[in-house]
Amino acid sequence: MPALIVAGAQWGDEGKGKLVDYLARQAHAVARYQGGHNAGHTVVINNEKFILHLIPSGILHEGKLCIIGNGVVIDPACLIEEMDALISRGVNIGENLLISENAHLIMPYHMALEAASESGMGKKAIGTTGRGIGPAYMDKMARSGIRMKDIMSPDIFKERLKAAVEKTNRLLDVLYGAPGFDLESVFEKYSGFARRLKKHVGNAGSVLNKALREGKNVLIEGAQGTLLDIDHGTYPYVTSSNASAGGACTGLGIGPTRISGVMGVIKAYTTRVGGGPFPTELHDELGNCLREKGGEYGATTGRPRRCGWLDIVALDHAVRVNGLSGFALTKLDILDGLDTIKVCTGYRIDGEVTKEFPPDASTLERCEPVYEELEGWKDSTSGKKKLSELPSGARKYIEWIEGRLGIGADMISTGQRREELIIVKENFH
Ligand code: IMP
Repeated sequence: MPALIVAGAQWGDEGKGKLVDYLARQAHAVARYQGGHNAGHTVVINNEKFILHLIPSGILHEGKLCIIGNGVVIDPACLIEEMDALISRGVNIGENLLISENAHLIMPYHMALEAASESGMGKKAIGTTGRGIGPAYMDKMARSGIRMKDIMSPDIFKERLKAAVEKTNRLLDVLYGAPGFDLESVFEKYSGFARRLKKHVGNAGSVLNKALREGKNVLIEGAQGTLLDIDHGTYPYVTSSNASAGGACTGLGIGPTRISGVMGVIKAYTTRVGGGPFPTELHDELGNCLREKGGEYGATTGRPRRCGWLDIVALDHAVRVNGLSGFALTKLDILDGLDTIKVCTGYRIDGEVTKEFPPDASTLERCEPVYEELEGWKDSTSGKKKLSELPSGARKYIEWIEGRLGIGADMISTGQRREELIIVKENFH
């Protein structure tokens, strides 16, 4: 049962795209299970930068089956734009893209609802990516959503859309005094998307299960990160899906017994975009320095990311929630040249030190980090391809993290490019 999940262990932007790109070489299929085009996965190949929002980065390898699972919310306009951009750069999508017929769609009114709701929240705003993700999942749970399969049948689509538009227009008017949407123009637009996407839509769960039964390698790609998970993250400052490994089963239609491993992706420091508590955040020059050196600007929105030290309390939580079997460490090279590196090993709250990650944002806001100081390293780790080539300080940093988390580093990324990677343990054979 070679199904490996790659999930973010922090607040997203850990560099999953590059690792998925590497692991995809040995996979038969690569599948996304949650989130939408709020994600942005960057892969650099021969100095060419590809930013993918919805399509798994496996698409950059010829002949890989790339699946967008039922747990993903899809803005079809964005998906088509992404497909066209890949095609124009010579990527063969052909038969390689399969979209679950049960995946829900992001509709134009979802973005309008989100914009109105965020602007009404003032300082308490979540700081979403503005892509309509939350309202699309709201409709899914309220059983008023529109799925990929619905837009393929004009009569069903018209009926469901009519109900949704009427309800949403009332909400927009009464709650926010915002203009509503015209049923016919949304219908026409999305019917056009349906014609374009039809040949890629199917029973993704069945295809995946068949591949797993045949013993093929399946790579399962998470978006965002554990601390943004709707259940296990810093609620309410989270995204609206289960970004942690548990979401993979429901988001793809495969059973937990199929999963053979879960690799957590950990950035060598921490970043966060949007609102919400972040105990190890650096508000000083060093924070700015990490942002500039690490290129810490959102791949989707371009927003500057908040930067801070590595947080072991939060990572311990991620190890447990995901049942991590190993981890990949990314952006190690960004810490090159520091005399000392701080790592948070506990939180002080109401005079007591705890090592337990609090389950909600309001408690986390009151936590002060307790740091340990580790020695830095002067030599460059940039582009190194073997553990033995790393400066001893960098090796010690990795071993220290392994010791604290009780799991091993399987991969270490030492730069942006595809080949700037140390493989400690292969996950696919
Ligand atoms: P939403 O997912 O657009 O609803 O945004 C909810 C929160 O998740 C906001 O704080 C976003 O900044 C954050 N978020 C969503 N997607 C990503 C991502 O791919 N990387 C990092 N943060 C994200």
